[in-house]
Amino acid sequence: MPLVTTSQILSDARNGRYAVGAFNVENMEMVLAVIQAAEELNAPVILQTTPSTVKYAGLDLYLANVKTAAERAKVPVVLHLDHGSDFRLAMQALRTGYTSIMIDGSHEAFEENIELSRRVVEACMPSDIPVEAELGKVGGKEDDLDGGEGSAYTDPEEAKMFVEKTGVNSLAVAIGTAHGIYKGEPKLDLERLSEIARAVAIPLVLHGASGLPDETVKMAIERGICKVNYATELRIAYSEGVKEVLKENPETIDPKKYGSAGISKVKRFVKEKMITCGCAGKAP
Ligand code: 13P
Repeated sequence: MPLVTTSQILSDARNGRYAVGAFNVENMEMVLAVIQAAEELNAPVILQTTPSTVKYAGLDLYLANVKTAAERAKVPVVLHLDHGSDFRLAMQALRTGYTSIMIDGSHEAFEENIELSRRVVEACMPSDIPVEAELGKVGGKEDDLDGGEGSAYTDPEEAKMFVEKTGVNSLAVAIGTAHGIYKGEPKLDLERLSEIARAVAIPLVLHGASGLPDETVKMAIERGICKVNYATELRIAYSEGVKEVLKENPETIDPKKYGSAGISKVKRFVKEKMITCGCAGKAP
C-alpha cells in the first residue's frame, strides 16, 4: 500500500497499549529485511534514516526504495526522518515525501528547542505530516556523533509545557537510555516515564533500544511508550550476516550472496523486536 504517516498507527498503539517498532535502515537490503519482517508478522512498521544515512545516499533514494517496497506490501509502512538536525533538513525530507519527521532540538536550550520544534510543526501541518521532537538528552553516540556531556532526563512539567507550546505529535523522552551498545545494565527511570505519560496526551518515543532487555522495553511500553527505536543492533545483524558468508567463502564476489545473508539476520532481529513491542498482528 502507499506510504502512511505515523498518525494513525501511533494513535492505535497508544490506545492498544503496544508500541510500533522503528528501525533504522541504511541500504536496500535493510529496507527489504524490515518490510519482509513486517509482512510476515502482519505488523505496522516505521523505517527511518538519520542525517548521516541521508548524506550517504540521499533522501530521494531512500524514499524511492522504501516507497516501492511499501507499495508491494500489505502492511502500513512509514518513512521517518530520525534526528532531523535542523529546519532545513526537516523541510527537505518533507518535500521529498517522507511521511513523518523528527526535529531534534534537544541540544538547544529549552526555549530554542520549543521555537525550532514549533516552526517545523507549523510547516508540516498543511501536509498532515506528523512531527516528533525530543526533550531531554538521550546519552551515548547518536548518529555517529558523540552525545558529549552525558544525558539530562526529561522533566514531566517541562514536557507538558513543551507539547502545549509546540503542538508536536509525539515526544522522544530521556529516561536513562543511550544510543549505541550499553556498557553496563541500563537503569531506566520508569516512574519518571509514568509521570511524563500522565502530563502529556501524545505518543511517547523510546530512543536507544539496542541492547535494552526485552522485559525493560515491555515495562516502558506499559507506561506509555508507543514507538521504540532500534538502530545499532540492525547494523550488527547485517554486518554479521555479510561477514559470515565472506569468512566461509572469501572468494565470494556476488553481493547478492552476502546481501541475502544480511537480510536474513536483520529480518530475524526485527521480528523478535516486533514481538517484544507487541505490534505483531496489529496491521489493519
Ligand atoms: P540504538 O542505536 O541504541 O538502537 O538507538 C536507536 C535510536 O534511538 C535511533 O534514533
